[in-house]
Amino acid sequence: MKFFIDTAEIDQIRELADTGMVDGVTTNPSLIAKSGRNFIEVIAEIAEIVPGPVSAEVTATDADAMIAEGRELAKIGDNIAVKVPLTWAGLKTCRVLSDEGRMVNVTLCFSANQALLAAKAGASFISPFIGRLDDIGLDGMELIADIREIYDNYDFETEILAASIRTVNHVQQCAQVGADVITAPPAIIKSLVKHPLTDKGLDAFLADWAKTGQTILKG
Ligand code: G3P
Repeated sequence: MKFFIDTAEIDQIRELADTGMVDGVTTNPSLIAKSGRNFIEVIAEIAEIVPGPVSAEVTATDADAMIAEGRELAKIGDNIAVKVPLTWAGLKTCRVLSDEGRMVNVTLCFSANQALLAAKAGASFISPFIGRLDDIGLDGMELIADIREIYDNYDFETEILAASIRTVNHVQQCAQVGADVITAPPAIIKSLVKHPLTDKGLDAFLADWAKTGQTILKG
């Protein structure tokens, strides 16, 4: 399973990239606005830090303008994945840009039929939003499982990029149902390593080791 970080905060990306666990980054217009940075500049900086796919979202709503914006964003680097919303204009843009050999991430996916359309449009990634479905009392994880079943039925190469991840349980469940990628806020990624019994056990090991008076490294 690939781990993408869902943020445009450079310091957070650098910190996690140092762990070797970062396979890519996703951004969206809201995350860019939150960063307070120039869009093109911050995406270029992220694409330098993380060699994996970096999603940058178009903001036009008609296909011709989306295609032009997507081509402009793709100039930033070969690891840019152009992000388009799941609309007919977005799907047309996905078809054009994927035929030009560009990575496309189709986002704001909330149904299996939408994901089927994205795969048929040649999407590199589909981004179903788990948390936002849960927010309205639906089962976001069920959508991931439904998409996995459909994609496997037809050997679609589109990768399921589970998004709107709100808990560490979402990460485990995505791994269990077979999502290819999760994209999560830095805090969720950092929390994956935490367990109180690990901390307690390590403290006990170190306390007992200290009693031996030994060191592993001489001098
Ligand atoms: O990548 C999509 C993600 O940023 C949306 O997450 O928590 O705003 O639903 P959220």
